[in-house]
Amino acid sequence: MKKYRNQKSVIRVSWCILILCVIIFTSTHAQTKLTLDLTKPGFTVSPMLYGLMTEEINHSYDGGLYAELIRNRIFKDNPNTAEAWSLVREDSNSKAAIKLMAATENNIPFDERRHAITGALSTCLRLTVETPGTRVGIANEGYWGIPVKPATSYRASFYLKGSATIQPPRRPGQNTPQSSAPVINDSTAGPITVTIESNDGKTVYAKGTVNLEKNINWKKYDITLTTAADVKPTTDARFVISTNRVGLYYFNLVSLFPPTFNNRLNGNRTDLMKMMLEMKPKFLRFPGGNYLEGPLITDAFPWKTTLGHLENRPGHKGSWGYRASDGMGLLEFLQWCEDIKAEPLLGVYAGYSLNGDHINAGPLLKPYVDDALDEIEYITGDVKTYWGAKRAADGHPAPFKLRYIEIGNEDWFDRSNSYDERFNQFRTAIETKYPQLICISTIADAQYPTQKVTSGKKVAVLDEHYYRSSWDMWENASQYDKYDRTGPKIFVGEWATREGAPTTNLNAALGDAAWMTGMERNSDIIIMSCYAPLFVNVNTATATAPKAWQWDSDLIGYNALNSYGSPAYYVQKLFGNYLGNKIVPMVGENIPTQIRPISRRDSANGITTSKSVPTIFYAATKDQITGAIYLKIVNSSGKQTPVEINITGPVKIAQEAIFIVLKGDKPDDTNSISDPEKIIPVTSKIKAVAKNFTRTLDPYSVNIFQLQTMK
Ligand code: AHR
Repeated sequence: MKKYRNQKSVIRVSWCILILCVIIFTSTHAQTKLTLDLTKPGFTVSPMLYGLMTEEINHSYDGGLYAELIRNRIFKDNPNTAEAWSLVREDSNSKAAIKLMAATENNIPFDERRHAITGALSTCLRLTVETPGTRVGIANEGYWGIPVKPATSYRASFYLKGSATIQPPRRPGQNTPQSSAPVINDSTAGPITVTIESNDGKTVYAKGTVNLEKNINWKKYDITLTTAADVKPTTDARFVISTNRVGLYYFNLVSLFPPTFNNRLNGNRTDLMKMMLEMKPKFLRFPGGNYLEGPLITDAFPWKTTLGHLENRPGHKGSWGYRASDGMGLLEFLQWCEDIKAEPLLGVYAGYSLNGDHINAGPLLKPYVDDALDEIEYITGDVKTYWGAKRAADGHPAPFKLRYIEIGNEDWFDRSNSYDERFNQFRTAIETKYPQLICISTIADAQYPTQKVTSGKKVAVLDEHYYRSSWDMWENASQYDKYDRTGPKIFVGEWATREGAPTTNLNAALGDAAWMTGMERNSDIIIMSCYAPLFVNVNTATATAPKAWQWDSDLIGYNALNSYGSPAYYVQKLFGNYLGNKIVPMVGENIPTQIRPISRRDSANGITTSKSVPTIFYAATKDQITGAIYLKIVNSSGKQTPVEINITGPVKIAQEAIFIVLKGDKPDDTNSISDPEKIIPVTSKIKAVAKNFTRTLDPYSVNIFQLQTMK
């Protein structure tokens, strides 16, 4: 009996294998053919289709795009210890110590709380020098090192005061005046040395001095440090401020900037800005993401305290396990948009935070709605408005262009189902004051049908998020072909194929590219799309600093010195650069397929039959002005695949075309900080192109044909 059952299962397995072979054979046997139909005008490609999404995650700004090199510059990252700071003692005879002095801590002696510069700069670092030896000082390790480059000028600045004799403070409620003449001990006054040096202190890359004045009050000191032309680039460096005299030295807002993009004073890293510019993004979604919401209601992105002088920015908790300096404040986000020629897409806090708390719609939510209106006024108001005048005072009199406002982030997590009412309260207020603005809902009908916004008028734009495997991307690449053309427009506001860490690999890029063909083909309804997360600092944990990233599968990686694009970055760049303004309708025939193995999740969901998934994905657009056709074809399989390309319609095609390919040998091939250009696009010219031609696509490849139509 048992033998018979075994025989039966052997026969069943053999049948399955046979059927599988037949499927594979038939699906790859006939010639794959793609027909581009130029007989009828296609839909218009959304002019905003490809953009960027950003938030403070993975040290995207602090230790990333925002060029500040000093970590924990206002000493608030950790109330218990001066993180990233250490005491420098050049010789063992010296005697010195460092200590955090937090004005806000009530359980510490009053004298230690009396050193605030502003409400934001309320914690400082004290260096006590009893015996200086040759030198003692404070060192900052930067964000996994200070980047040293040859012939480079760094702008250093810091607040400093020195005192050897502490003047008796006047305690709260104590009316006794301070002693009339403060005793100023001169010993701290004099030269203070500022260096960028190797971590062992043996190599000095750049050096200067400032003159500490005979003054017990805070003063800001500025100095430029320049490296020599023959310096070898390194991250094995620290920033040191040192003295050779006894006394008490107090430091705050210690800053060091390398040259920045467009020479902005509080600016961004040049390499990362250039990489974004090259993507030609049409918009920038900010400030999040989870970073918008905050862990608690009190931690939501505090845009008002991110404005103006750094002296007035206390920073805030952030949503990804580390404190944000808020050097990247609201105006800096807007200037970033300006610098990369992208339009801001603003997310406003909508009363829901990551711990699940929400604020009920109605009077309790009103201050948050008003706050969003203020924020919009800061961005778009003319200088006669209250917040427009503030923006002008901050250095940017011209209003920014703004058309899209996203109300919250991923509010489907709000199990109270309060979003419908919260969304409507925000939308009504925003549209009443700014009828030209379009409000985006964070709950997509297709993804969360039971939670979607149902009251009020139809929502104009829905934000959908997809973090998927490459199989999921390939399987669902045509999902938008079936979307209702009369429904809301779709903003795919976060998505990625999540394979590879910290940046994704080639297989993920093939998943992304397939998915993008689906968005591009349907860009009459998919009006905007942005990959997430954009940035990752790729440093792993060191003895003193934790691992830099919290989210695997990111687009652009970097350390303090260098940066690189993942294969997915190049897919984004190619899709953004080779894009027409009209969708060319296409028909695919004999599209090869592969069998998607049953995943653990499938089994858990009771799915026992494996699926057949395409391996060729395609989209085409035409530029009506230049006559160029941009045909994108993705081959996700490991096989050379001949594809017949057929163009119908009253046009001639130039015999020569531009061909760009991004490919690799293996799906898990990738780029990294040590091998940044393993997978990059290669551009060539191809000949003998006609209205009908055949091209064999390489395995694991993203292919772009720029064909030229002629009358
Ligand atoms: O992109 C990372 C996170 O994923 C975003 O902060 C959040 O919106 C999403 O869940």
